[in-house]
Amino acid sequence: MTGDPDDGMLSWDESVFRDEHVFEIDYIPETFKHRESQLESLKYALRPAVRGSRPLNTMVRGPPGTGKTTAVQKLFGELSAQTDVRTVRVNCQVDSTRYAVFSRLFESVFDYEPPSSGISFKKLFGQITDRLVEDDEVLVVALDDVNYLFYENEASDTLYSLLRAHEAHSGARIGVIVVSSDLSLDVIEELDSRVQSVFRPEEVYFPVYDTTEIYDILRERADRGFHEGVIDRPELERVAELTGESGDLRVGIDLLRRAGLNAEMRASRTVAEEDVEDAYEKSKFVHLSRSLRGLSDSERALVETLAEHDGKRAGEVYEAFHEATDLGYTRYSEIINKLDQLGVIEAEYAEVEGRGRSRELSLAYDPDAVLDRLR
Ligand SMILES: Nc1ncnc2c1ncn2[C@@H]1O[C@H](COP(=O)(O)OP(=O)(O)OP(=O)(O)O)[C@@H](O)[C@H]1O
Ligand SMILES: [Mg+2]
Repeated sequence: MTGDPDDGMLSWDESVFRDEHVFEIDYIPETFKHRESQLESLKYALRPAVRGSRPLNTMVRGPPGTGKTTAVQKLFGELSAQTDVRTVRVNCQVDSTRYAVFSRLFESVFDYEPPSSGISFKKLFGQITDRLVEDDEVLVVALDDVNYLFYENEASDTLYSLLRAHEAHSGARIGVIVVSSDLSLDVIEELDSRVQSVFRPEEVYFPVYDTTEIYDILRERADRGFHEGVIDRPELERVAELTGESGDLRVGIDLLRRAGLNAEMRASRTVAEEDVEDAYEKSKFVHLSRSLRGLSDSERALVETLAEHDGKRAGEVYEAFHEATDLGYTRYSEIINKLDQLGVIEAEYAEVEGRGRSRELSLAYDPDAVLDRLR
């Protein structure tokens, strides 16, 4: 491995990466193609805020990795830079209760965290709206991954408070964008009727990208992240094809980075097809990793128990879970439902002789892959 530029081998001080950062999860792309109509719809809904009115509430839906969060971040960035509208994106995977959501809003409005000693929700809410009215500001809140508020039974209360803010606190102007990637969740249907009657959002749908669009987006990312000539058309086409299997663009971005690392491991200046295939063995689990990352300790404990009792009946799994955590059946059922909705497990009803119907639980992924990512 001499590093002679003609032999295709890398020397120690060389890299295939021009800027590895562009493959990181929180990188916001410079260009955002194939989402023109969605951006237009969102801008239309937000426009009243620029004029000082309450914007139209909006519901953004679409499968994972289709650019929903990126669209919100792009628009919020523009609004903050060019107008007086205040924007806050709340990640509900992290802040999954009404109190936590409003703590984030408080933090944005006041630039410091609310007192940790715990003030009542009412007070927290009042301070936020008072400040908005005082500063004559419109607030736009994006509840990103709002499905997590539903899993915790906090969605109705949270939305109700946000949507009725102008009634409870005269002069307060708040608009809401809810973002969900759980297509099996009927957001409106699952809300209390008192919320349904005030929540009639504009709908914006983000479909999966087709393979040509994926190729186009990843080509640009690769050009920014890799040196010239590192990945050629056939290899990139393979990346796009593998990404198309789930349609989650995150898989493609992760594949590019890992394939680049694999090439470097071989001290090669270029990515070969095998680098892509090897990388896919890891990259195909990006969605699983993301789902697991947001789980609490007891939820993780149940996933671990399941990995060790894959395909067993719910009762049997419960016994093992109870043994490990001392938690009761109610909490156990709640977690099972959440994991089912997240697509981490599959729960199927089966007839059991003499005992009626029982649920059979299995992981939606290879148990070893799950355990690897839990530990
Ligand atoms: N049109 C696009 N151009 C460039 N990059 C994109 C585009 N769409 C998505 N991406 C990239 O793909 C990744 C996933 O996008 P994003 O996080 O916006 O998806 P999402 O729809 O919010 O997914 P989830 O529902 O799982 O949260 C991000 O790294 C983002 O930079
Ligand atoms: Mg997102």
